[in-house]
Amino acid sequence: MMEFLTLNTGAKMPLEGFGVFQIPDPEQCEQVVYDAIKTGYRLLDTAAAYGNEEALGKGVARAIEDGLTTREELFITTKVWVQDQKNEETAYEAVKASLKRLNMDYADLVLLHQPMGDYFAAYRGLEKAYKDELTKAIGVANFYPGPFTNLCENVEIIPAVNQVELHPFFVQEKAIENMKAYGVVPQAWGPLAEGKHGIFTDPELTEIGRKYGKSAAQVVLRWNAQRGVSIIPKSVHVERMEQNIDIWDFELTDEEMAKIAAKDLGHSEIVNHDDPGFVKMLCGMNIHD
Ligand SMILES: NC(=O)c1ccc[n+]([C@@H]2O[C@H](COP(=O)([O-])OP(=O)(O)OC[C@H]3O[C@@H](n4cnc5c(N)ncnc54)[C@H](OP(=O)(O)O)[C@@H]3O)[C@@H](O)[C@H]2O)c1
Repeated sequence: MMEFLTLNTGAKMPLEGFGVFQIPDPEQCEQVVYDAIKTGYRLLDTAAAYGNEEALGKGVARAIEDGLTTREELFITTKVWVQDQKNEETAYEAVKASLKRLNMDYADLVLLHQPMGDYFAAYRGLEKAYKDELTKAIGVANFYPGPFTNLCENVEIIPAVNQVELHPFFVQEKAIENMKAYGVVPQAWGPLAEGKHGIFTDPELTEIGRKYGKSAAQVVLRWNAQRGVSIIPKSVHVERMEQNIDIWDFELTDEEMAKIAAKDLGHSEIVNHDDPGFVKMLCGMNIHD
């Protein structure tokens, strides 16, 4: 049975959801979203920058039409891109534009996608969107401990979620403790390390999984969920969607949890938010006119 977390707004969020990063083809994305809902996922994670909000909205609408779910049962997350993190107004308008593309009256969670631009002003735009009931919760993504703490210390509404890269090769235990101290839910992007480090065939993860009749992918997803981290794996394959959500009938021992955490490299091998070139690239990445 899927577990749920209670956000600081009082809303319930499924501990596991489904991400749609890198599914640019609209027809494929619509079908994948439909399949994910049919498989049992109720949390769907997109972003303005993924270019597939409209397709996700269509997949959701078709699933609702076919009686697979209801809008109330779903938890829809989207994100405001850096280009719109200029000021309060641009961020607020970006939320409205996302809702229009999603063809929805409200989102369940809207995140600032990066700690870039004038993110305090942009966050005030999210606070206004929350107060105007355009979204049921607001939060941030990729806010590493320094900017995250500074934000929490200085905003009116504490974020509900901080979505950062979290998997056995980038454990970030202290950052998670800090989020929890502020009552913020840590959510893992790249919970399968985007397939890096041979994660799916890792001998130790495979060995742990064998004991429970589970794959290495299921072991790492369970590991994050078991430490209170929300997970949003992505797959365009139905059998993998099914596999990735089938993690609620086993429990890792403390020793296994520690063994998995010991794989930590202490840094990301996917992105580097300390690299000026990377930050400059994202600041210059425009997703609309
Ligand atoms: N806030 C941010 O900055 C940020 C950044 C990155 C991602 N995200 C969000 O987090 C979500 C998840 O992260 P992600 O998509 O980057 O990476 P991920 O979920 O860690 O990994 C996805 C990759 O693993 C493969 N895969 C999935 N399940 C598998 C399984 N059971 N066995 C073998 N291969 C499997 C997928 O291939 P197939 O699709 O071919 O099956 C895909 O190549 C995204 O979709 C997005 O919503 C947010």
